[in-house]
Amino acid sequence: MEVIGLPQRWVAKANWKATQENFSADPYHVQTTHRSTVEMGISPEDPLYAGYGHQVVMQNGHGLNVITSKTGRSRAPYQGMPESMWPMFQRNLKPEQDDILSRTTVFVGGVYPNLSFVSPIHGTEGHLHNYLNFRVWRPLAPDKVEVWCWFMIDKAAPEEYKKAAYKGYLGSFGVSGTLEQDDTETWARIVEVSGGLMMRDKQLNYNNVSNYLMGFSHVEPDPTFAGPGTAYPTTYIDALSRSIHERWLELLTKDLIIEGASK
Ligand SMILES: [Fe+2]
Repeated sequence: MEVIGLPQRWVAKANWKATQENFSADPYHVQTTHRSTVEMGISPEDPLYAGYGHQVVMQNGHGLNVITSKTGRSRAPYQGMPESMWPMFQRNLKPEQDDILSRTTVFVGGVYPNLSFVSPIHGTEGHLHNYLNFRVWRPLAPDKVEVWCWFMIDKAAPEEYKKAAYKGYLGSFGVSGTLEQDDTETWARIVEVSGGLMMRDKQLNYNNVSNYLMGFSHVEPDPTFAGPGTAYPTTYIDALSRSIHERWLELLTKDLIIEGASK
């Protein structure tokens, strides 16, 4: 991979756990938070479109979403990378890896606690291109995070493709991008609501204020998924969100000394 340009850096009104979870574990928000992209014709109208594929839960809060399509194939094979590069993918990957790459639309996930990545297909002027966006969430305060955002692309891609993909990145997940602004708006509202009456008044748990029960106890892992981890056959599920927050709680409480507790 090749990094192009300097990392963009900015400060957002957000909590790092919300930003990490947003990328790692929440394709479900796409249809509502990014509704404007559907209305503009950038995203598909099918309300389930970001839910097709697998959510893969790794250990220690790591994981990703492998988003395909209703048919299980991608309209743009190999995420719209130039056809001239396809033999290279086929040569370098195992058959099962090649199969997943060839039919995936978006890879989006995170390495716990504060590294996120997204490999989507976006564009400007009607042309769609793939790129890889890495970002680090640097917590500055409970309600403030500094974002470090890198653009990466396959070194072997033609120069013209790289330039067009960079424009697609700036228009979507760069600091001024449409999707970035949608997400930032929601993170800020979460911070504000977190200081409100409901949060002060309620015990924080999975089934009242923070509802992390989607898919819980009735969506089973898919044993046919070729990759590592525990793969669920949909990305509209809270399995990875629960894993992230469980890891956070585990780290936060592991050295806790509770007076009077038996050893
Ligand atoms: Fe988003």
